[in-house]
Amino acid sequence: MLKTKDLSYWYQDASQPLFKEVNLEFEAGQSYAILGHSGTGKTTFLSLIAGLDHPKDGEILLGDRSLKQIGLTNYRRHDVAIVFQAYNLFAYMSPLDNLLTAMAITGAEHAGDKAYASQILRDLGIGDDLITRNVQHLSGGQQQRVAIARTMACDAKLVVADEPTGNLDEDNTHAVIAQFQKIAHEQQKCVIIVTHEPDVAAQCDHQYRLENKQFTQLA
Ligand SMILES: Nc1ncnc2c1ncn2[C@@H]1O[C@H](COP(=O)(O)OP(=O)(O)OP(=O)(O)O)[C@@H](O)[C@H]1O
Ligand SMILES: [Mg+2]
Repeated sequence: MLKTKDLSYWYQDASQPLFKEVNLEFEAGQSYAILGHSGTGKTTFLSLIAGLDHPKDGEILLGDRSLKQIGLTNYRRHDVAIVFQAYNLFAYMSPLDNLLTAMAITGAEHAGDKAYASQILRDLGIGDDLITRNVQHLSGGQQQRVAIARTMACDAKLVVADEPTGNLDEDNTHAVIAQFQKIAHEQQKCVIIVTHEPDVAAQCDHQYRLENKQFTQLA
């Protein structure tokens, strides 16, 4: 579903690319973990996949169209859902309104369906007592789960997450990964996660390591 073709990126110096001529393929219904030392370019790679910036060289294809052809704004609105470590929730809104607003903005199939949105939150342990509370009054782990619920409520077939379990305890980490696996396997979405934790990566269907400017498949 998503392919990188000879993808290269550097910030200032073209002779020092973070990664060079990367050819990878990501399928719907599967989850992918990307490991690698700090500073190797994992977040940068994810930001290209998320349509936040253009590659320096090569291209990214969704189906048979390049992101450039689709247009990054259009792509971000309809095709990709992003979970950043800082959650990126709509501040001052409740969990329920976060989902409903995202569904409305992206024109999701279930836009306006409160019962549908509430059920997704409930499944992630955000119960009726929290659902209408300002998200800023939720714990880090709870906010993280709202961010994940939001990707489930929208129709984007590609879900990318940057260290989604970076500051969660063991139980929450387990719950979050289980939820990503559900998004991949039950919603038939393609999930790509950057993580520092080998045991988180091991729970995904495929694992890659970014090292020496290339992605090596581990499993
Ligand atoms: N806007 C920028 N301008 C110049 N250099 C940058 C910019 N953003 C990141 N870098 C550099 O590019 C390299 C890769 O950064 P990136 O954030 O992609 O790494 P990462 O693999 O996600 O690291 P971490 O595991 O610590 O999050 C780093 O050396 C970083 O300092
Ligand atoms: Mg990073």
